Amino acid sequence: MYRTRTCGDLRLADEGLVVTLAGWVQRSRKMGGMTFVDIRDRYGITQLVFNQEIDAPLCEQANKLGREYVIQVTGTVRERSNKNPHLPTGDVELIVSKLNVLNKAEVPPFTIEDDTDGGDDLRMKFRYLDLRRNAVRKNLELRHRMAFEVRSYLDKEGFLEVETPVLIKSTPEGARDFVVPSRMNPGQFYALPQSPQTFKQLLMVSGFDRYFQIVKCFRDEDLRADRQPEFTQIDCEMSFVEQEDVITTFEGMAKHLFKTIRGIEMKKPFLRMTWQDAMKYYGSDKPDLRFDMKFVELMDVLKGYGFSVFDNAVYIGGICAKGAATYTRKQLDQLTEFVKRPQIGAKGLVYARIEADGNVKSSVDKFYSQEVLQKMKDAFAAEPGDLILILSGDDAMKTRKQLCELRLEVAEQLGLRDKDKFACLWIVDFPLFEWSEEDQRFYAMHHPFTSPKPEDIPLLDTDPGAVRANAYDMVINGVEVGGGSIRIHDSQLQDKMFKLLGFTEEKAQEQFGFLMNAFKYGAPPHGGLAYGLDRWVSLFAGLDSIRDCIAFPKNNSGRDVMIDAPAALDESQLDELNLKIDIKE
Ligand code: AMO
Repeated sequence: MYRTRTCGDLRLADEGLVVTLAGWVQRSRKMGGMTFVDIRDRYGITQLVFNQEIDAPLCEQANKLGREYVIQVTGTVRERSNKNPHLPTGDVELIVSKLNVLNKAEVPPFTIEDDTDGGDDLRMKFRYLDLRRNAVRKNLELRHRMAFEVRSYLDKEGFLEVETPVLIKSTPEGARDFVVPSRMNPGQFYALPQSPQTFKQLLMVSGFDRYFQIVKCFRDEDLRADRQPEFTQIDCEMSFVEQEDVITTFEGMAKHLFKTIRGIEMKKPFLRMTWQDAMKYYGSDKPDLRFDMKFVELMDVLKGYGFSVFDNAVYIGGICAKGAATYTRKQLDQLTEFVKRPQIGAKGLVYARIEADGNVKSSVDKFYSQEVLQKMKDAFAAEPGDLILILSGDDAMKTRKQLCELRLEVAEQLGLRDKDKFACLWIVDFPLFEWSEEDQRFYAMHHPFTSPKPEDIPLLDTDPGAVRANAYDMVINGVEVGGGSIRIHDSQLQDKMFKLLGFTEEKAQEQFGFLMNAFKYGAPPHGGLAYGLDRWVSLFAGLDSIRDCIAFPKNNSGRDVMIDAPAALDESQLDELNLKIDIKE
């Protein structure tokens, strides 16, 4: 046995015990005739003491220890005279009588401490060392506990975890597929699942009426802070359910996680908002509701007074930032620059301060009388000290999205995006289709298996763009943590859906024949949802990027810099796979 205790669990009550610990040297320091070494394992840090006067050779040995050496020590637990209140083991130290170096270590490329001196790239290249640091390790521990609680909740609810294949045929979820060539079937490729969508639906046909899987999904899409090319879903499906049943079950799971992981009791049902309202009032299908700043439309109030920007606009809308009238000219200029950045694309920003006497002082005073400005103030129910920020444009949806960015930025500046506050809601009634101007065709907003609302089915023939879906997303603090839908379980309706999405009969048969056939053999009504585990963990850990809760993540170019992947294949491997590389400039 290498150790009798861990480096994190010795306490005052253990005083006098002889114990053996094993771990890594975090740091050592010499003070007079004493050498202090911090030994670390995943449970914590314990202070080791070597005394020159008591055992000089042992102390000499300790003085030679380098950072990250792997050691084993035996000694007696003693109360510390100089206690460290920041460490759980800070009341005690180990007076070492035996030291065994299990392995030496080269000097690590960065210090393995909470405040490391290692930059992002370096830490990713040596991720196995980065993972020794508390911050990253804690995120993985949290991830484990969350996955555990998910399994516990779903098991109690009667869900079965079933594994589905990873080498499959393309499932369209809106991103590109990662593909794998088949050696045994020359010229043919598997696709890695963007999600197990079709398989979980087949499991419903098989009668597994409550399925779940904590499963890797793969999507070749542009990366962002909340996106990785391989990520983990908590994927679920249920039979004989309506939207309300799915929402109730998974709101229950969300509340279970809040309670068991964060100790937060959420008694009230989560807010529900239609997609229409979310876009109208927040310019986003994932509004951050930790703060208000709901959009107010001002077309009726501000149009027609000779200010050409507004007079020519199709949409004029604004937000009211409580207490932000103190914003200086410089800050307002910076906000203007912010909305004018190409990524946002607004033409300019109009602002108005509500002064102490209730008067409104705006950047467009020369066009508007105080009377009109007061009407605008009333539209926001603004009070003295508030700041109104207004955008306009010739495309309502585009302008709302710009206003959404402004709203988030102002909230950030005002400190309203508190990581310990959680605002959960469901977005419902998504449109079934999204029209692509570029391709001049409809795409499924969720995926092609999502059912239309029964009352909207007649519109499929007359106005597909107006059809609403039985689809729902859960949003927390502006992050889409999950989404799902009630599926089509009727092969004729599914046929129609494929047609509307531009599939020829042959193409639909070729791609989804297996599912359409399965539906002919008694498919139960079914629906489900998938949560993004990485997003849940990063929300609970207060992280800015999901990368930090993934043991071995990819960087922004989709590379694993540690193992240097993706990489070229040997000529012989390419040959065996019947592949020729022809890189286009
Ligand atoms: P959807 O595509 O909405 O639905 O994905 C479900 C959830 O998975 C998470 N997610 C991601 N997380 C990290 N990186 C990514 N690249 C990424 N993409 C998605 C999000 C998202 O809400 N099959 C359907 C679910 C269903 O209908 O049941 C699906 O995959 O949190």
